[in-house]
Amino acid sequence: MRILILGGTRFLGRATARLAVEQGHEVTCAARGVSGAVPAGARFVAADRDDPESLVPLAAAGFDAVVDVTRQISHARHALDALADHVGHWSFVSTISVYADNTTPGQSAADAPVLPAAPADVDGPVGPDHRWYGECKVSIEELVRERMGVDRSFICRAGLIVGAEDPSDRFPYWVRRLSAGGEVLAPGHPTDRVQFVDVADLAGWLLHAAGTRLGGTYDGSGPAMSRAEMLAGVAAGLGIADPAFTWVDQEFLLSNDVREWSGERALPLWVRLPETAGLMDRDVRAALDAGLTIRPLADTVRATASWMTAHPAAVRQGGLDPADEAAILGKWQAVRDR
Ligand SMILES: NC(=O)c1ccc[n+]([C@@H]2O[C@H](COP(=O)([O-])OP(=O)(O)OC[C@H]3O[C@@H](n4cnc5c(N)ncnc54)[C@H](OP(=O)(O)O)[C@@H]3O)[C@@H](O)[C@H]2O)c1
Repeated sequence: MRILILGGTRFLGRATARLAVEQGHEVTCAARGVSGAVPAGARFVAADRDDPESLVPLAAAGFDAVVDVTRQISHARHALDALADHVGHWSFVSTISVYADNTTPGQSAADAPVLPAAPADVDGPVGPDHRWYGECKVSIEELVRERMGVDRSFICRAGLIVGAEDPSDRFPYWVRRLSAGGEVLAPGHPTDRVQFVDVADLAGWLLHAAGTRLGGTYDGSGPAMSRAEMLAGVAAGLGIADPAFTWVDQEFLLSNDVREWSGERALPLWVRLPETAGLMDRDVRAALDAGLTIRPLADTVRATASWMTAHPAAVRQGGLDPADEAAILGKWQAVRDR
């Protein structure tokens, strides 16, 4: 296939471009080149999508498939204006942040309610908390379906993406923490659900969708697992035989200013229950039936760990720092032993 990736200079876009080259496709990546370089074997076309005309020169070439990762509504609109009539299939990487209900477990893309589209004066996520992110993705989903038609558009609502080149502090936190050894603070309850997808699996599915002209809207995530399974899987992937976990109650963590999900003082991939019980417990059977394949967790862990070792400067150092973790564990033990 002749594939155009709108992005391709970091994480998912780059993994998709790399895999497409490996699979023998002719790959073009259009981006500014600010976030990084495209993989070897892909053609880089410099384009700043803030300029509405930036992708117009690519139209004449024609492509079998486009993969777009944008968060900006205007970027999507201009890309569709320039290219929709010159490509066979359009994959848009959306997000599970489009969903209106993060509380109910077991929802599926087929019928889960989504947020309203972004207000007219909003073009992209705003500020450090990425306000309007989900709404902007909803707006872009609508544009893609409208311009390409439902049958030629693949809307992939990605869950938490993990693996090599992960720019976040989420999954890498657990790889780093388990590697460090000692008593590990495990948040919440062992049966709490967690859910994510390996970037390479998602990349593979995007290419499968393009190759088979898959149309429709799906969640792009692996099946949910328990947090105990995840932590044991990280340990196993790292070759750690007997990890020592201390499970600490949610309310105790919250009352000690331990934060959820990501960032400073956070325990990544941990969210408050029951309020957020639906976030990492979605029904993804439709995606698996439509060609998404999931590699063993140990492979994801090893890929993440080797990338972290090879590129230490690129790894974001978020999460709970070791001194805070030790202090909280000490306090928890005192409370527990009382
Ligand atoms: N990470 C997660 O856990 C997660 C979860 C759910 C959904 N998602 C979605 O998954 C996708 C991830 O995509 P990604 O990993 O490839 O990273 P990304 O951070 O979305 O990358 C953005 C891409 O767009 C390019 N870009 C940004 N501004 C541009 C501009 N003005 N003109 C041209 N190109 C521009 C960037 O390249 P340059 O900077 O080089 O121009 C980069 O390649 C996103 O859509 C995200 O919303 C992610």
